[in-house]
Amino acid sequence: MNDMSGLPPAADVKAPAKTAFIKTYGCQMNVYDTTRMEDILAGEGYGTAASAEEADLVILNTCHIREKAAEKVYSELGKLRDMKRLRTKAGGEMVIAVAGCVAQAEGEEIARRSKGVDLVFGPQTFHRLPDYLARHKETGRTIVETEFPASEKFGSLAGRKSAGHGVAAFLTVQEGCDKFCSFCVVPYTRGAEFSRPVAQVLAEARNLAATGVREVTLLGQNVNAYAGDAGSSTASLASLVAELSLITGIDRIRYTTSHPRDMSADLIEAHASNVKLMPYLHLPVQAGSDRILKAMNRGHSAQSYLDLIAKVRATRPDMAISGDFIVGFPGETEAEFQDTLAIVRAVGYASAYSFKYSPRPGTPAADQDDQVPEEEKLDRLHRLQALLLEQQQAFNRSCVGKTLTVLLEKPGRNTGQMIGRSPYLQSVHMEQPAGLAPLAVGALVETRILAVGPNSLSGQYEGTVT
Ligand code: 5AD
Ligand code: SF4
Repeated sequence: MNDMSGLPPAADVKAPAKTAFIKTYGCQMNVYDTTRMEDILAGEGYGTAASAEEADLVILNTCHIREKAAEKVYSELGKLRDMKRLRTKAGGEMVIAVAGCVAQAEGEEIARRSKGVDLVFGPQTFHRLPDYLARHKETGRTIVETEFPASEKFGSLAGRKSAGHGVAAFLTVQEGCDKFCSFCVVPYTRGAEFSRPVAQVLAEARNLAATGVREVTLLGQNVNAYAGDAGSSTASLASLVAELSLITGIDRIRYTTSHPRDMSADLIEAHASNVKLMPYLHLPVQAGSDRILKAMNRGHSAQSYLDLIAKVRATRPDMAISGDFIVGFPGETEAEFQDTLAIVRAVGYASAYSFKYSPRPGTPAADQDDQVPEEEKLDRLHRLQALLLEQQQAFNRSCVGKTLTVLLEKPGRNTGQMIGRSPYLQSVHMEQPAGLAPLAVGALVETRILAVGPNSLSGQYEGTVT
């Protein structure tokens, strides 16, 4: 066959000498960290393996936020150990690494509990991966690294290499947490709040735009606490967003996760004045009872949260509000749980994440002796989720008949179908319009919403914006 690509014929293309497989658990920041580890490994000559079975290096990028998330890692490590045994018997090699928040929280314990693990390193030191691999190869010993040099990490990461970010990408701008909610491991796994300098963020965003990214989601555990070095001053998240929106090619900006304590007036205002800033706000409240909020060390009350939501909606009436909730925090009574249902009713959420309280070792709430029984937590979770689902469906139904601008992200399962995202982060399906040039991934199109499915909207193409 005649190859017009200009590339050498397939037989001449050297297959990468080694391949790596990274399995990601947990939040979007872990997803981002995985892409950065892929970049580092590409620089070290690693190709991407489709599964752990085929890989020379397997990395589990782990999450420690709830017990279940951490337990999954240990069961996966059991499977990997068996795989490694077979590989070694057959004369091959396999390096197993545990990265992310479980690695940070449990360190040496992982190596003790799971034989066969070669590398253990936390979220702040993955930039040293080539060094860990070299040291492990040289000594054959298990390497455990759990330091916190966040500034060093970002400073040493090169430009983003891995192609295929798609049209929407994550970009970490802030990491860590100084708030110390009494249920949460994040201050211990991700360390103190740290913001990347403005110039570094802008450079990465330009880089992304050059690869075809049109939407960036700025990530941080407390993203709205962003306070980045801007040379002679410190930039807030609102000013960072203003700078980012000047980049040609970046047409949509989102940010997550915000803390109510850091929801400043300039950020709220940006939602009215900056057309690139999407009308979607993930603002966790966790609970609706002031006594529980105090015990959680949240630093806000139910009323102050409601006041914030009112301000946000006065500025941007169509703002979709999302949140996180915990049921069954130690000592939570049925009446206090009812306060959570009440605040949900008062806000009206477009989407939400809700969890049973999970005691995390080393956090203050885990030591309280008034833990709520498991069945009670489950019952409360079901009741809360039923209400949240109802609200999500109501929000989706309210979009029917409206024309929304949708960023097309990928082709759908059926031929001629495209899938994209609305400004409110809903997944929107549509058919290719008959008689027109095919719609392309990356196009922003006006779509009239016609129907609501369980997890998405469907609409009809009305025109291309750009
Ligand atoms: N138990 C249950 N949920 C938790 N979260 C954080 N820590 C815990 C815990 N110990 C939830 C919070 C947070 C989200 C990321 O995870 O709702 O906002
Ligand atoms: Fe999980 Fe929190 Fe770590 Fe993200 S930062 S991976 S949610 S523990």
